[in-house]
Amino acid sequence: MLSSKAEDYLEAILKLTEDKGYARIKDIAEALNRRPPSVNEMVKRLDEMGYVVYRKYEGITLTDKGRKRAHIIKDRHDTLKKFLMMINVPENIADKDACTMEHELDETTIKNVRNFVDFVNTAPEFPRWLEHFEQFCINGKHPCKHLRKRE
Ligand code: FE2
Repeated sequence: MLSSKAEDYLEAILKLTEDKGYARIKDIAEALNRRPPSVNEMVKRLDEMGYVVYRKYEGITLTDKGRKRAHIIKDRHDTLKKFLMMINVPENIADKDACTMEHELDETTIKNVRNFVDFVNTAPEFPRWLEHFEQFCINGKHPCKHLRKRE
């Protein structure tokens, strides 16, 4: 089992590799806001566990095993972020919280969240109830008049 911290490293290495074509200790330190010596230590551990290959002058590359794991985390992150934004969480908070949730939630939960996001996004038109939910978040009232009468 990988720690959340180790998963964050794999996620950051994947992102750097996709954006810049390579990942170096300095880049990872910047991305994760950590000091280079601790990054160095974690990268060595990930290398020993077979998730990355670390060559001092060439930088860090993901192994197949590392890339697979990193993609799972990235997919969880993207799914959770989309869901949180769907329920009106501002993007910066959605991004931060997705990063916390991505490590802990059961695969079944992730699968259902993903289904929900895909279901809403592929609906023929933006669902009215989701627009109503936005209103509800603002004033705590259901915008449908026929429902309001029952209050
Ligand atoms: Fe993340």
